Amino acid sequence: MIVCSCNAITDRDIHAAIDWMRASDPQTIITPGKVYRALGKTPDCGGCMSLFLSSMRQNDNLKVPAELRGLKDHRIRRKG
Ligand code: FES
Repeated sequence: MIVCSCNAITDRDIHAAIDWMRASDPQTIITPGKVYRALGKTPDCGGCMSLFLSSMRQNDNLKVPAELRGLKDHRIRRKG
């Protein structure tokens, strides 16, 4: 399914980019901008962003790695 009509990006392209980024760097935070860059494209009108994010969220590899979870809590505890 085409997600971004300006760049002809499909949901499969998005999943492939996310899987590739996660395999390349298990600790990376994956953003829409990084997905565009991985695909060699840049956003144009931005009209696809809602569907783009929805497609990204369907990928299990999007999740923040477990070892990075809780860092915010750790910082809060140190300050308090
Ligand atoms: S539809 Fe994706 S940038 Fe325009």
